[in-house]
Amino acid sequence: MIKVITYGTYDLLHYGHIRLLQRAKALGDYLIVGVTADDFDKSRGKINVQQSLTERIEAVRATGIADEIIIEEYEGQKIDDIRKYDVDIFTVGSDWAGKFDYLNEYCKVVYLERTEGVSSTEIRSETRKIRVGLVGSHNTLGEKFINESKYVNGIEISGIYYNEDDYEVCHYDESIKVYKDYDALLKASDAIYIYASPLAHTILCKQAISSKKHVICESPLTLNINETKSLFELAEKQNVILLEGMKTVYSTAYQRLLLLLKTGLIGKPVTVDATVTSLATPLSKGWSGITYWGSTALLPVFQVFGVHYIDQQISIIKKDQTEFMKADFVFDKGMASIKAGNGVKSEGELIISGTEGYIYVPSPWWKMDYFEVRYEDTNKNKRYFYQLDGEGIRNEISTFVNAINHIKNTAFMTPEISEAISDIMSDCISNHNVRVVELNEE
Ligand code: CTP
Repeated sequence: MIKVITYGTYDLLHYGHIRLLQRAKALGDYLIVGVTADDFDKSRGKINVQQSLTERIEAVRATGIADEIIIEEYEGQKIDDIRKYDVDIFTVGSDWAGKFDYLNEYCKVVYLERTEGVSSTEIRSETRKIRVGLVGSHNTLGEKFINESKYVNGIEISGIYYNEDDYEVCHYDESIKVYKDYDALLKASDAIYIYASPLAHTILCKQAISSKKHVICESPLTLNINETKSLFELAEKQNVILLEGMKTVYSTAYQRLLLLLKTGLIGKPVTVDATVTSLATPLSKGWSGITYWGSTALLPVFQVFGVHYIDQQISIIKKDQTEFMKADFVFDKGMASIKAGNGVKSEGELIISGTEGYIYVPSPWWKMDYFEVRYEDTNKNKRYFYQLDGEGIRNEISTFVNAINHIKNTAFMTPEISEAISDIMSDCISNHNVRVVELNEE
């Protein structure tokens, strides 16, 4: 029996794919089709594949051509598969000509003529691009968003709004139109990315949502729980997406970490300790050590234990350029401690301890591409590595685009978490419910 193997993404399955599969099958007696998993494909720059892995597998199965379907999850897997399945022929379309010659060592390699005039990319681009307008004062965030958006299909930047009185000048790319009037930017956009002063988030979000624009707004979404709640209510009423932007949420490693926790890998989680500090925090217009870093540190606490803490104690230092917080939470399932802010430098690690072991993420854990699961018996320790493209911002943008296109994503920041973060931010800013620590200078 001659075994043939071929690989592809098979997004929005089209005539070109079917012709390739038919000819691949005709090369032998048994056809194995490797469907590329989302993450693996992202690393080849194909972010925003429109269909989920399950949908793409189903589409290939429905052709009835494949005898077996497997998932391609990592680079180098092809050699493993060829050995494992005892494959005689590897084949792909001629767009890959020469790229897989190295597999000749393991089996015969055949490049089949690619069908002219059809591709997933073209089909995807027929759907109109989402026009995203930027509103910001904090330059590097806008710059990163513009750069990373180039790697995501289905979006284009419609312009930037800033008002000299309110925001610092933010204009990086001459080709991007600058608007002096927020309404004009809203008219030219389908969605808005807000990275302006947190003091202005509520009003900017409200105006955009009222105009039926989707919004992704940097964390903290607002500095008041009721304002956050009413923004989510308004977004639901207007039937638009409102997402709190925090790149860490969207990194593959962080998402895998949360899933692994659910499998009981470290038993039951009992404590979360998260530290985020920086000496180079932008300090103006509502941004401070706490508003800039606090939400990131709170994120794993609320994602592991939920938002309903029984007790909480927050201490803050506010002196000159320093704004630093230390908070302890007690939940019915466990305890958590965070340290966040500027003016103090510490080890930026995340440790989640459980009844059987713990997860250790080294500094800077908020740009996570690696973590370790550690046990008392160190022989059982395991390391997990994941690709992190664009600090997670690329995934963040693609999640936003997918959400707008009504593709569900379970990795969202939930409104409950956004509300809980806003609540703590408001306490820290107003010195309410917190202990303000005065440092003795001597
Ligand atoms: N293929 C083909 N003819 C086409 C399109 C794809 O023969 N018109 C082949 C590819 O060479 C590959 C397989 O189908 O062997 C799966 O391709 P995939 O990358 O999933 O599809 P594309 O349409 O090429 O996707 P994209 O436009 O995103 O590159």
